[in-house]
Amino acid sequence: MIDTNTTAHGKWSSRYAYILAATGSAVGLGNIWKFPYITGENGGGAFVLVYLACVLVIGIPIMMAETMLGRRSQRNPIEAMEILTKEANADSHWHYLGWMGVIAGLLILSYYSVVAGWASAYILKAFTGSFVDADASAIKTLYADFISSPIQLIFWHTLFMLATMYIVVKGVKNGLEKAVQYLMPALFVLMFLLVAYAMTTNSYFQGLHFLFTPDFSKLTSNSVLTAMGHAFFTLSLGMGAIMVYGSYLPKDVSISKTVFMIAGADTIVALLAGIAIFPIVFANNLHPSSGPGLIFETLPIAFGAMTGGWLMGILFFIMLSVAALTSSISLIEPAVAWLVENRGFTREKACIWSGGVTWLLGLGTVFSFNVWSDFKVFDRSIFQLLDYLTANLMLPIGGFCIAIFAGWIMSPKHSEAELDMPIAQGYQAWKLLVSYVAPAAVFFVFLHVIGVL
Ligand code: TRP
Repeated sequence: MIDTNTTAHGKWSSRYAYILAATGSAVGLGNIWKFPYITGENGGGAFVLVYLACVLVIGIPIMMAETMLGRRSQRNPIEAMEILTKEANADSHWHYLGWMGVIAGLLILSYYSVVAGWASAYILKAFTGSFVDADASAIKTLYADFISSPIQLIFWHTLFMLATMYIVVKGVKNGLEKAVQYLMPALFVLMFLLVAYAMTTNSYFQGLHFLFTPDFSKLTSNSVLTAMGHAFFTLSLGMGAIMVYGSYLPKDVSISKTVFMIAGADTIVALLAGIAIFPIVFANNLHPSSGPGLIFETLPIAFGAMTGGWLMGILFFIMLSVAALTSSISLIEPAVAWLVENRGFTREKACIWSGGVTWLLGLGTVFSFNVWSDFKVFDRSIFQLLDYLTANLMLPIGGFCIAIFAGWIMSPKHSEAELDMPIAQGYQAWKLLVSYVAPAAVFFVFLHVIGVL
């Protein structure tokens, strides 16, 4: 994938490799773990509708913008913003945007790695038969016992961070490219099988109803913010990850087409996860709003009950861990690229530093599920605080700035040439969305949340 041997700043081996890597970054815990549980906490249908609208009018245009900024500058996000600002004769403060991205990436990774560790731990639980014929309450106890043990969570968090660092040091060229190539399609197939299982429960339509029948009275301004924040999170936007990936993108690849494919695949995986999970929730009298444990309390019931469930459970949690791994490398890559390109670090040293800091931060999340569970700031645990700060605040702010930069600061001559849309109206539509609609939407949601509107 990224060929770091020939030049300081590598290139993707092909358009296909880029799509694979960017889809790998987008599809992850956000789709399968986070989307279902925040949908459950925010009342279902109306939340899903707002999320889909945000992907379409905010996420997709900003994803094109972010890819474009990366490809034009061919640099890591901090330098990219410096170069592009010079090119546009703009104020030099824009490079703080790159900084915020690097920090947001490490903050997100700190809790992402802990949850990815849960997924890896569940491979072993599936393997040892913990789910076989277990009922909902046994599965719930299994999860509760697991997260109450700091030692176990630290062990799996450490393992996952080491795996991430190992891959980032090695470069992603061989192992992971192959893994993603087979495991992503396999993940799709498994999601369909889980949906098929959900159809056999007698709560399938109740699940669909919950997901797709909007009841706007359940929507608060904070749920709208969460839906919007999640559109950024799930597409890996607003912190420079897609900018880094774009910077490795060859000039002859169409940004608009690839962005549509990536966003489409990402959305389908999230919806499939929702369609599989909610029928199981209702069939077992569980609560949709049970929080971050939702998939760990529901899917094992399905694996325990269905034929071939033992193997499917193992495969599912392996794929979830790999999907998390292909996302986590994009969270750490901006920091690593910057340390290597600007601070003269070797790749090893850069990975050890960024990984070490992230690992340490992750302990806060580990403890927020057990020994520090009573410690709350603004009524939120450390995990919830980190999630709110990054997904709901930093990513939308980063995305807002990217939209303003691409729509107002960068010369239209440059953006039109970079985007190279198949139809002329495509560029006009993008320009309108990125200059007005997306920034205004982010702005109004913020105003609403702080109570001004
Ligand atoms: N999109 C990933 C997911 O849904 C998470 C992720 C990877 C991410 N890179 C990112 C989120 C950059 C925000 C920014 O699981």
